[in-house]
Order: sequence, then C-alpha cells, then structure tokens
Amino acid sequence: MRLRLNEQTLSRRLERVAAHVPAGARLADIGSDHGYLPVALMRRGAIAAAVAGEVALTPFRAAQRTVRENDLDEQISVRHASGLAAIEPDDRITAISLCGMGGETIRDILESGKARLSGEERLILQPNGGEQPLRLWLMENGYRILCEEVLRENRFDYEIIVAERDGPVMYSAEELYFGPLQMQARSPAFVQKWQRMLRLKRQTLAQFAKARTVPEDKAKDIARQAEWISELLA
Ligand SMILES: C[S@@+](CC[C@H](N)C(=O)[O-])C[C@H]1O[C@@H](n2cnc3c(N)ncnc32)[C@H](O)[C@@H]1O
Repeated sequence: MRLRLNEQTLSRRLERVAAHVPAGARLADIGSDHGYLPVALMRRGAIAAAVAGEVALTPFRAAQRTVRENDLDEQISVRHASGLAAIEPDDRITAISLCGMGGETIRDILESGKARLSGEERLILQPNGGEQPLRLWLMENGYRILCEEVLRENRFDYEIIVAERDGPVMYSAEELYFGPLQMQARSPAFVQKWQRMLRLKRQTLAQFAKARTVPEDKAKDIARQAEWISELLA
C-alpha cells in the first residue's frame, strides 16, 4: 500500500533532501508545489524560517493552504514568483532547495537568478535527469559538490547534489557525468542506476544499427557514454 504523502510524511526522496538542510537554516524552497518540504522541516523545528516559491498558481495556492493549515504563516512566506525572484535580501536565506525539476531547469533558474545569490547559501538540488549540465554550471560558478547521493523510489532513480560556493573547482568530463563523489563512493544504488543506464544505451545503439539514417553526432555521443559507463562498471 502506498503511503499518503504530505507535510507530515515526506516521500523518501524529500526526506533525503531534508537531511541535507542544515539545522536552523533559513530555507528557500523554490518550486515548492504543496510546500511539504518547508512545512515538514518547520513542524519538526529543524529550520528557523522559510520562503516557499512557486511559479504556477495551483501549486502556489496549495502551498498557501498547507502553510495556513499548519498555522505557520509567520514563519513561512509563500510567494508567487519564478525561480530566485522569490527571494529578497531581507530573507537572509542560508539554504536553497530546488527539487523535482529537470537539471537544465534548475541550472536555468540558478543562472537567471545569480544576482540574488549571496554565495553563502548551501544549494540542495534534486534534479530529475540533466545532472551533467547542472554540475557543469556548479563548476563554472565556483560551487564545490559537498555531498551526492542516488536513491531509487517508485522505479525512478533520483540524484541529490549538495553544493556550496568555495572558489575555483575543476571536475573532469567523467566526474561531471557521473558525479565526482558518487564515482568514488560507488554506492549500490549508484551502481544499479548505471547498470540500467548501460542497458538503455546499448538498446539505443542496437536500434541505431538497424535504422537507415542516424545523426552521426548523436550515435557517437551515445557510444562514448556507453564506453564510459562500461569502464566505470568494469
Ligand atoms: C514536480 S514539482 C516538484 C515539487 C517539489 N519541489 C518536490 O520535489 O516534490 C516541480 C514544481 O516546480 C515548479 N516550478 C517549475 N519551474 C519553476 C520556476 N521557474 N520557479 C518556481 N517554481 C517552478 C512547478 O510549478 C512545480 O510545482
């Protein structure tokens, strides 16, 4: 039986995200949807204040409702805004979560909201795919990856990336692809994710072999990814 998820019972994915929010943080949860993450953390006394930002009206109203029903209007400000436009300097935000969106979307939100980042905030990112371009943005903007994890829930592999701005940092192309810390740690969830990915890449290559025309660049790119994954798992 599936659990009913809400501000009291977070999904395992959001529970792992919550574990990376420093105690006493002033959290901005961007793309908050129902506002479950900031409300759960505030109910537990784990954070000092929060902003829940939402660009879409229906989830924005849902977040307002969750905050109101938990009597947390004083501590959590729900804002209808795109990306980091939800944050003001007076909020003195110390941690930003961006979860459940594509890695490219998270990267674009960070890039277009750069002026609103003080550089002191911890970023807790949970991309659904597109991890490589997101890690590239982190590297190019001086963010060091402090912690990474892969977890599987409801037949999806999710990644969590925690980063802080820490001066220049260099990651290799493979580290940007797999995650520098995950490559070292090689957790069972990480290995299983890449075993599945390798099967998918090989299936794609087999389909390409039968197809009449395939863009050469695309075929080369997938072949290179399959090679990297095979080397990783060897
Ligand atoms: C799939 S939900 C994830 C909700 C929650 N963060 C989670 O991880 O369970 C993604 C949410 O991000 C919101 N969103 C997408 N782009 C956004 C943006 N630029 N600014 C604020 N919210 C955004 C969507 O409206 C949606 O409610």
